[in-house]
Parts: sequence; C-alpha cells; structure tokens
Amino acid sequence: MPRVTRGLERRLADHVARLADEHPPLRLDDVDFTVVDPVALGRRYGHVLDYMARVELEVDRNVLELTTLLPDPPEVDRWFYADVWQPQEIQHGRILDQLQVELGRSPTTPDTDTVSLKLRLLGALAHLPAFQDVCRMLYYLTGMSTERQAVLAYNKLHDGTAAMGERAVAQTVVAPIKRQEPGHFVFYQLSARGLWEQLAGWQRWLVRRMRTISYGPVGASSDEQRADFGDVMITLGMTADEEMAAKAVRVERELLWAHRQGMDVPPYVLKAFHRAVDLARQRAERSVPD
Ligand SMILES: [Fe+2]
Ligand SMILES: [Fe+2]
Repeated sequence: MPRVTRGLERRLADHVARLADEHPPLRLDDVDFTVVDPVALGRRYGHVLDYMARVELEVDRNVLELTTLLPDPPEVDRWFYADVWQPQEIQHGRILDQLQVELGRSPTTPDTDTVSLKLRLLGALAHLPAFQDVCRMLYYLTGMSTERQAVLAYNKLHDGTAAMGERAVAQTVVAPIKRQEPGHFVFYQLSARGLWEQLAGWQRWLVRRMRTISYGPVGASSDEQRADFGDVMITLGMTADEEMAAKAVRVERELLWAHRQGMDVPPYVLKAFHRAVDLARQRAERSVPD
C-alpha cells in the first residue's frame, strides 16, 4: 500500500475514533421540549422541522443505498457509516420529529427502504474496482454537500428559534445536533481529497459528468420534495443562494473544477437550488385562491 494511502487511512481512523468518543448519539431524555409559543413556532418552522426530520430519519435508506453502491468499501468507511454516522443521524431525526409532534403536527413520513433503479445500476457496475472508486468519489461529494447544507440550515434554525425566545429549542434541540454535523463533513472531505489524488483522468472525467447530471439538493428526489426544499430555503433566508451554494460545494469546486478559471459555483448546483425555489414559489401561487 502506498505511504500516502496508509497515512490517510490512519488520519481517517483517528478522526472516526474521536467522533465516536466525543460525540455519542444524542438522547431524547436529555432534550428539553419546552416551547413558549407552539403555534408561532409551528407556523414559522413546522415545515422546516418536518423536512429535516425526514432527511435525518432517511439515514437508514442511505445505509441501504451505500451497501448497494459500495459493495466492498474500505473498512474505515464501513466503521464510520455503521457505528458513528447512522446512530448520530437517526437520533437527530427522532429529536426533530418529536419536537414537531410536541407542536401538534403529524410525525414525518420518511422513506427508509426504496433504493432507486439508478443506484442499483451503479451498484452493479461498482463490482468493477475502477468503477467503485468513481462511486466512492460521488458518495464523498454528496456527503460533503449534504453535511454543509445541514450545518448552514441548523445555524439559521438555531438563530431563528433563539430570536423567537424559544431558548430550550435552540439550546437543547438545535445546538447539540448542529455540533455533530461538522465532524461528518470532515470525514467526507478527508476522504474526497485523498481519493481524488488517486483517480485516473477518465475516472475524474466520469465523476464530473455524473455530478453534472445528477446533483440535487439533500432529501429531494421528486418535484414535490424539491418544492419542500425550496420552502425550507425561503423560510431560513437561504435564497441568496450564490453564497449558500458556494459554501455548500466549496471543496467540490476546488477539486473537480480547479481547471475552470473564475467558476465560483458549479452551474449544476445553482440550477438545482434555483429550481427548488422556483418550484416552491409556483406551488405557493397555485394554492392562493383567485
Ligand atoms: Fe444530522
Ligand atoms: Fe450529518
């Protein structure tokens, strides 16, 4: 094994061990669900809680997708997603969902077991080792983008709930969750940087192509869900999207598009965020009675 790879594996293993040690899964019993004004909180952030709870609870489907997409992952990847990431994310989902139930809303309806045909096809090809590396790269890129979006969204939600005077929600629901997300981002970032170095030209080309045709906002696989995501962005004030999109994919731009001078944000990312906001606005217009 080349020295670079061994060094990276050790860094990744240290990182996962530290996350496991410093960030045990959050416990529902430690959360204070006291809400000062449930009606106002539900009206303002109910749909945001629902979206985030769903995305977090769909971690079980993400694990199924992963085992399909990466039939033979490096040991450290399996350790991360099975022992650290999944147990943390599922608790994020349970806590957010409990909060929305406390507000008198219905629990979210996560899809925990549908693996798309597209992913199953990729998974079949991934039995070829050279192609599995392409799939792994796509997984790390998706992970980075998703975790950054989560941190940005939780920051806004934290500030918004604190400004409404919902201290228990800000401090015991949102703050502990948002503290666990950056460690996930770091895992994907270390992995993506290390793997990109090892990819051949054709593999890099394929990663760029596949990213360009398949990029989507986290948790949105239908127009209805894209509109839901757009609503979340609007409520959280994240529609100054050049900035937000740039933050969500900074490392991706740096790795994949270093040769494209002057590209701040890959166009497929902006397009995906614009489309979500457009779909949300169109849906809102349709629901206004004439
Ligand atoms: Fe999470
Ligand atoms: Fe996360």
